[in-house]
Amino acid sequence: MEKTCILAIETSCDDTSLALAKNNKLIKECTLTSLNEHCKFGGIVPEVAARGHEDSIAKCLKKIISDTKANYKDITHIAYTSHPGLPGSLHIGKIFAKSLGSLLKIKLIPINHMYGHIFSFGINQQKITYPFLSLVVSGGHTTIYLVKSAINIKTLNQTTDDAVGETLDKIGRELGLEYPGGISIDKAFNKSKATFKMINHYPVEQPFSFSGVKTHILNYLNTQKMKNRQIDKVSIASSVLEWITDELIRKLTFYADKYKINTITIGGGVSANKCLRAKLNQKKWKVILPELSYCGDNASMIANYANLIINKHCLSDKK
Ligand code: KG4
Ligand code: ZN
Repeated sequence: MEKTCILAIETSCDDTSLALAKNNKLIKECTLTSLNEHCKFGGIVPEVAARGHEDSIAKCLKKIISDTKANYKDITHIAYTSHPGLPGSLHIGKIFAKSLGSLLKIKLIPINHMYGHIFSFGINQQKITYPFLSLVVSGGHTTIYLVKSAINIKTLNQTTDDAVGETLDKIGRELGLEYPGGISIDKAFNKSKATFKMINHYPVEQPFSFSGVKTHILNYLNTQKMKNRQIDKVSIASSVLEWITDELIRKLTFYADKYKINTITIGGGVSANKCLRAKLNQKKWKVILPELSYCGDNASMIANYANLIINKHCLSDKK
């Protein structure tokens, strides 16, 4: 296995995250977020996120270097998130990586953010067994992948409209819950109160769609408001989460059966959700969950994936 010291940079959305990993072992991560700045707008403001990265990126690097006492000349690779993400945010990370790379004469590795999430369950673990299905659920993405190796990744299904996190955030905002709505709805969830009438589930073979469930709830809330009627926030939040997680499990079951796959992994901000985790664990699958600290955006997952592709020749040894 090639000896590596990877500096990873993740700036796809509102979190500025840098990490240092030596020979596939995570040494240190530093993450600063601009989330508080976005709360007052009820959603991520791209311009504010980009300015947050500009303020934080050098601070994260300084902290990592001083805490680990690492020497710049030991760094063998700089991995940075190249896509997908907010263009202004990605640009700050890329320019920082390029400048540092050219100053130190270090190789750059552009990393797909989604692949970082797919393999986030494996950070600091040696075991990866292929093939597996990966469900990545975040603020911007809802995708099921068939993963045969670190470089053989096929998209099986993805949302045609809103992502799960985005749907929860929008419904949470209309319910008057604290931003981000995904976290508030997770906290409010009470299975016995999931009795609000929801729309029918979509046929399993169809692409994910979440705009219908959002419209269903927003129409109901508007009608109640016009009629000056009370709403039961916990019942609505619980019913929405129950419907969404059922939809995710239904499609995962369809693909697990179709491709005869028994190992299921998840990633992305929504993979921290307790209701989703509980439903996955009820199935007869081998379910591998990422640590809660690696569900949201983080540079450790970028370092982890960079390490996998650098050492791709030894992937089959990782059993
Ligand atoms: O992966 P992430 O940090 O950023 C993106 O790449 O989008 O995901 C953020 C999303 C937000 O929509 C947030 O509401 C949602 O993840 N989220 C959750 C939970 N924690 C974060 N949704 C449901 N339950 C949670 N515990
Ligand atoms: Zn993400």
